[in-house]
Amino acid sequence: MSATMPDRPFPNALFLRESDDTDALARALAATQPGRAVVYLHGDLGAGKSTLARAWLRALGVEGGIRSPTYTLVERYDIARGEALHLDLYRIGDAGELEFLGLDDSDAALWLVEWPERGRGGLPAADLRVELAVRGTGRIAALVPASSAGEAWLARLEDSGRLRAFPESTP
Ligand SMILES: Nc1ncnc2c1ncn2[C@@H]1O[C@H](COP(=O)(O)OP(=O)(O)O)[C@@H](O)[C@H]1O
Ligand SMILES: [Mg+2]
Repeated sequence: MSATMPDRPFPNALFLRESDDTDALARALAATQPGRAVVYLHGDLGAGKSTLARAWLRALGVEGGIRSPTYTLVERYDIARGEALHLDLYRIGDAGELEFLGLDDSDAALWLVEWPERGRGGLPAADLRVELAVRGTGRIAALVPASSAGEAWLARLEDSGRLRAFPESTP
């Protein structure tokens, strides 16, 4: 896979038949992620972004309630390697509002950002984009590396064999 955006949507997309598969993908990503990772979660309402984020935070040891950042825009969690941030920018007015969240000097270990396109200019650059979409009663997910750390991550993930659990979706 290359770091450029695909010219056709969802090349080599993985098929996620049910919610449990979205959870399993989150665990695979958590198990192979670099020490610091910025992840943009793309997809329409209902595509599975929050499901993926929740399972990812659980995989990193977050216990108890995982709140939706729908209204707060950001929720913060302590994880073993520092802090994880879960953002949902669906309701943000403009990217300038991000300044009020006080994330500028954050060196969080993990950023999981829903609706990143609405925070353009106010977010750190992505290492990985996860592009989710509804496909029948399931979902498809494309993993698009966006930095050299992201490229290495994807290579590690493929080597781990964990992606073999998911059939490739037919275009
Ligand atoms: N692979 C999947 N197959 C079927 N349903 C899924 C899958 N992944 C997630 N869902 C379901 O889709 C619904 C919406 O998910 P959610 O994560 O809230 O979407 P988003 O945050 O993108 O709006 C939830 O009911 C969730 O259980
Ligand atoms: Mg959501």
